[in-house]
Amino acid sequence: MIEVTQNQTISLPYNVSLSIKREDLIHPHISGNKYRKLTYNIAFAKANNYKTLLTFGGAYSNHIAATAVAGNIYDFHTIGIIRGDELGVDLDKTLAENKTLQQAANHGMKFKFISRALYKQKDEVSFLNMLKEEYPDAYILPEGGTNSLAIKGCEEILSPSDLSFDYICCAVGTGGTISGIINTAATSQKVLGFPALKGDFLTAEIQKLVHASNWELEQRYHFGGYAKVPETLVHFMNEFKNTHQIVLDPIYTGKMMYGILDLISKDFFPQNSRILAIHTGGLQGIEGVNKKLQKKGSQTIDI
Ligand SMILES: Cc1ncc(COP(=O)(O)O)c(C=O)c1O
Repeated sequence: MIEVTQNQTISLPYNVSLSIKREDLIHPHISGNKYRKLTYNIAFAKANNYKTLLTFGGAYSNHIAATAVAGNIYDFHTIGIIRGDELGVDLDKTLAENKTLQQAANHGMKFKFISRALYKQKDEVSFLNMLKEEYPDAYILPEGGTNSLAIKGCEEILSPSDLSFDYICCAVGTGGTISGIINTAATSQKVLGFPALKGDFLTAEIQKLVHASNWELEQRYHFGGYAKVPETLVHFMNEFKNTHQIVLDPIYTGKMMYGILDLISKDFFPQNSRILAIHTGGLQGIEGVNKKLQKKGSQTIDI
């Protein structure tokens, strides 16, 4: 299936053009790269008669929320292996406080809450074998949904008309989305990734998934690390929404967009560059982040 999403050009007081691919508008709950990553995986699971989708994530995971909704639509049971066994002690309380898990539960997902130490084994064969024994009819999707079928789906993010852009920018978590984009970008284009996590391990991860070399990670815009949402970022996202009427998410696309505009203001891009930023969705996570910001008495994100 090829879904062509609209590019929205925003006006900027600089001599470059910036368009945003609105993948966030694909589906209200399975938005952006989640849709791309799940499409071929769901087709595979159906074709091979799996009855259950099982996957992994933190308590605010966009992938957990999207898998629950997709499972509900395509008639799969869904199991979420969630990081943090403390969350399973009082499930009603956890669901009352956590919109992501509440939405997943409302779409039929069942949870297995595990300790952070055990969660670290999520890719190990012995742990996966144990899960296969417990859930014999489950198709297992890795954390963040990144596998070869997910990358194949992400190869459909760019459409042929996008080959006229000089730069393609996207947020990076596990590296699956950018790998699909790199695979379809023209060699004359530069793909710039903005990691949401601190640390340089992602370059090596992505190198394992792609052959091309016309890409680079811009490591300066993680804002302190994964899920860190400082005031400067919130302020930027609210201003961006006010000016362009586009809501960004605080974990991925907000940081990427801050980075792009900062680089533009520092003349990183040559004059007249045509830049395409991918809005990979993730807006479901805003309410959870806002609850945390509220608790700290900080400014919240406008939705
Ligand atoms: C909204 C959003 N954008 C970007 C990403 C990064 O994608 P990937 O993990 O494929 O690098 C994620 C995480 O999966 C995400 O939820």
